[in-house]
Amino acid sequence: MFVRRIAVVGTGYVGLTTGACLASLGHRVVCADVDAAKVERLARGEVDILEPRLAELVAEGLASGRLSFVLGASAAVADAEVVFLCVPTPMGVGGIADLAAVESVVDETRDLLPSGTVIVNKSTVPVGTSIRTAELLRRDDVAVVSNPEFLREGSAVHDFLNPDRIVVGCDQQDAAERVAALYARLGAPTVLTDAASAEMVKYAANCFLAMKLSYVNAVAELCERLGANITDVTEGMGYDKRIGQAFLNPGPGWGGSCLPKDTHAMLQVADAADFEFRLLRATIDTNERQRQRMVEKVRLAVTGKRGGSLSHVRLGLLGLTFKAGTDDLRDSPALAVAALLKQAGADLVGYDPALTGGTDLGPVSVVDDPYQAAKDVDALVVLTEWPEFRSLDWARLAETVRQPVVVDTRNLLDPDVLRRAGLTCTSLGRR
Ligand code: UGA
Repeated sequence: MFVRRIAVVGTGYVGLTTGACLASLGHRVVCADVDAAKVERLARGEVDILEPRLAELVAEGLASGRLSFVLGASAAVADAEVVFLCVPTPMGVGGIADLAAVESVVDETRDLLPSGTVIVNKSTVPVGTSIRTAELLRRDDVAVVSNPEFLREGSAVHDFLNPDRIVVGCDQQDAAERVAALYARLGAPTVLTDAASAEMVKYAANCFLAMKLSYVNAVAELCERLGANITDVTEGMGYDKRIGQAFLNPGPGWGGSCLPKDTHAMLQVADAADFEFRLLRATIDTNERQRQRMVEKVRLAVTGKRGGSLSHVRLGLLGLTFKAGTDDLRDSPALAVAALLKQAGADLVGYDPALTGGTDLGPVSVVDDPYQAAKDVDALVVLTEWPEFRSLDWARLAETVRQPVVVDTRNLLDPDVLRRAGLTCTSLGRR
């Protein structure tokens, strides 16, 4: 395999993972960021993202000399054969991705890129962005390639090094092949296509995952009404290889920095193309409703009646991040549910293994241990699926709560264990 000189612009979780993993595959990688303090920390091997194995790969890359960090994109691209753009594309006006960061890197580096360089769009960008980037760049001798990432937070390094597939899109076949060759050692199926299709793969995949989750959340609600058990239902569905077991756990709604942003962006793109994407609209609406439904569940569990008042009810929230294994709070369903509970009048105290006590979260006062979060509460509400919650000392928790009520919005806990501790447990999709 050819060793390439690579520049990665942006050291967020996608950029840093990409840089560290490409270096581990043998390439020479220079990572750039606009944040000087961050560049200094990374150059010392200090990684502030909670991502398994990432710090280890960064340290190995630095020690081998294959990985380095510099301030600003212009310092990274001078002799690069391939430049990865891994800058943020936040949700902008009207739900469409904001490309200001991509545009500013293009402006900064336009006159510095060596002839024959390939620019790779790694960020999730609206269909058509690669063509737009090429137009902004105004360089016939530099190709723009779309190569979307499929990294989950909390397993980004694993996902990078064990990909289900590599997708590379460009209207120039040779540039696409050069990018695909960077990953050759990983032996993954590779889809070579045009830029628009590669960009669409990312949106279509994330929207499909969101749809799967909204679907399962809706089926769970129906299970409750009909007396069926969602865990057995999804197990029975998941053995069908066309469906698969993954992404079938009901929850308080899906969140994070990707699925909400991408579903809204896709809807916006559809609108602009005069296409009414009703299935996707329903996917998003179902998710909004799911959060409110969690509040109704808490209301019923605590007051014993539908529509009962939560005014001055004290609730202990277990889990605040958008999923387990990350400290990321962006678009966290747990926080969305917390905000609704607060609106309904509840007092909230919360614990999360990834957060330190005193973290300012507005409606929730964050404490340092789960037993503190259970003190004098009218119910404990599990909102994030941290596995360690399973092995809490439930008998000890039962002694400190005011009412022995647990609402498990992740179907994480074993109801029998809780029952033995003297607690009643309400979960999703079960009688
Ligand atoms: C997601 C995709 O899974 C990645 O493939 C993609 O690369 C990434 O977005 C991205 O676009 O960068 P991530 O945002 O890290 O990854 O989170 P997921 O693991 O997909 O979880 C999303 C939400 O769904 C979380 O709130 C999670 O708790 C929820 N979820 C997930 C469930 O409620 N049930 C499940 O069975 C699985």
